[in-house]
Amino acid sequence: MSALPTLFAAESQPDLALYEQLSRTLRKAILAGYLPLGSKVPASRVLAADLAISRSTVELAFSQLEAEGYLHRQVGVGSFVAIAAQPKPARPRKTAAGLSQRGKMMVEAGTCRDATSPFTAFTAGQPDPAAFPRELWGKMTQQRWKKDGERLMRYGDSQGLPELREAIAGYLAQSRGVVCDAAQILVLTSSQQALQLIAQLLIDPNDTVWLEEPGYLGARNALLSAGAKIIPAPVDHDGLNTEISSTLSPPKLIYTTPSHQYPLGVTMSLPRRMALLEQAAQHHAWIIEDDYDSEFSYEQRPLPALQGLDQQGRVIYIGTFSKVLFPSLRIAYLVLPPDLIPAFVNARAAFDGHTPQLAQAVTADFMHQGHFASHIRQMRVLYRSRRDLLLTALQPLSELIQTVNVNGGLQFAVEVDHHREPQWTAAGQAQGLALRPLSQFYLGERKKSGWLLGYASLSNIQINSAVDTLKKCL
Ligand SMILES: Cc1ncc(COP(=O)(O)O)c(C=O)c1O
Repeated sequence: MSALPTLFAAESQPDLALYEQLSRTLRKAILAGYLPLGSKVPASRVLAADLAISRSTVELAFSQLEAEGYLHRQVGVGSFVAIAAQPKPARPRKTAAGLSQRGKMMVEAGTCRDATSPFTAFTAGQPDPAAFPRELWGKMTQQRWKKDGERLMRYGDSQGLPELREAIAGYLAQSRGVVCDAAQILVLTSSQQALQLIAQLLIDPNDTVWLEEPGYLGARNALLSAGAKIIPAPVDHDGLNTEISSTLSPPKLIYTTPSHQYPLGVTMSLPRRMALLEQAAQHHAWIIEDDYDSEFSYEQRPLPALQGLDQQGRVIYIGTFSKVLFPSLRIAYLVLPPDLIPAFVNARAAFDGHTPQLAQAVTADFMHQGHFASHIRQMRVLYRSRRDLLLTALQPLSELIQTVNVNGGLQFAVEVDHHREPQWTAAGQAQGLALRPLSQFYLGERKKSGWLLGYASLSNIQINSAVDTLKKCL
């Protein structure tokens, strides 16, 4: 890197050993972004010549930086930068002039989109598009278009296509123990839209919300954008800990993922479910049950939804087709307590009218004709085998990487040593692995260090090769 001699000269500190001066220079260059994550550092021979110092001095500096986690060295290949540049000191966020208070809160809340490419190994929450029956879907789309195109080209019902609502209500009653009829279903584009609607309609600024800790960023951001005061509610091996939570200030709303806690993967036990419903009743609070991937339960049938146990109409249930079918379909739904239906349908009409009709119609046909149930069955077998393979591949690393809850889903969490997590994350990311640190999911002090490892969209070869890459980074 041509700037190194200049930086090295500027860094000159005669009271320090020469190799320490060089380590400092390189450290600064990495942190400032002159040497980006993953880039190759000049060979020691070349750098020694450029800086007019001995090669052994350069080697000493490289070893020091490797031990500190700044460099990753591969014999015969070279030395690579293993950590990302430090983010620039936070400048006050530039807020566009004229935004409303709510607009400002939305900008402050940020986005929950994962910055990493969805196609890198270990990306969480991705079903496998290659395993989806695309030809069948295409044929069914054509048939519907031909048969019903004109109707489907008009404006549609804001609450959702009636035949899809019927299909969803039937599926939920049969497979998830949800007690509802089609009139309680509101079809949306995503769980994210469901969370935004809930936040906008049920939360006033400074209302208290309990959110699972660690928890889903999509929920956190939607609620923050409505001005909620979020209280992290701890999660243990039985799910959201209702005993500790009872000491927190009373909530207006509680967000939870009881079937498969996001990101730790715990299933909430029945006593906890009962206690949570009891607390919600005591505080006159709403419960949001986000049931995003319970279809993929590998060891036993998933526990029926919390909504089915609710006698008081406090649970608002969110379901999505993003995981069971494919994420770009953009169809999800809410099951609403009857009192809330008019307000939610009205708001949905006001926001964006409705979800595209053709996609709704094809999804309804897919469900009615039995393809949905059979696709879920097939994906359960496929994803389970991939989970098993990933567990086997990680086995030799069990002293360094401990799995947390692996009973279901498209990903599982693993724990690694707290001190080594940043260095290993950077090294893995430099090699193209989507290692998403668990720390991102904590609002307060983090309790667990590690990653969320997605496996469902990876072939067997990709799983083995990703674990080989990971091994080299540890
Ligand atoms: C906890 C949780 N809820 C919901 C979703 C699905 O979101 P959407 O329906 O917006 O695609 C995800 C996706 O990753 C999730 O992790």
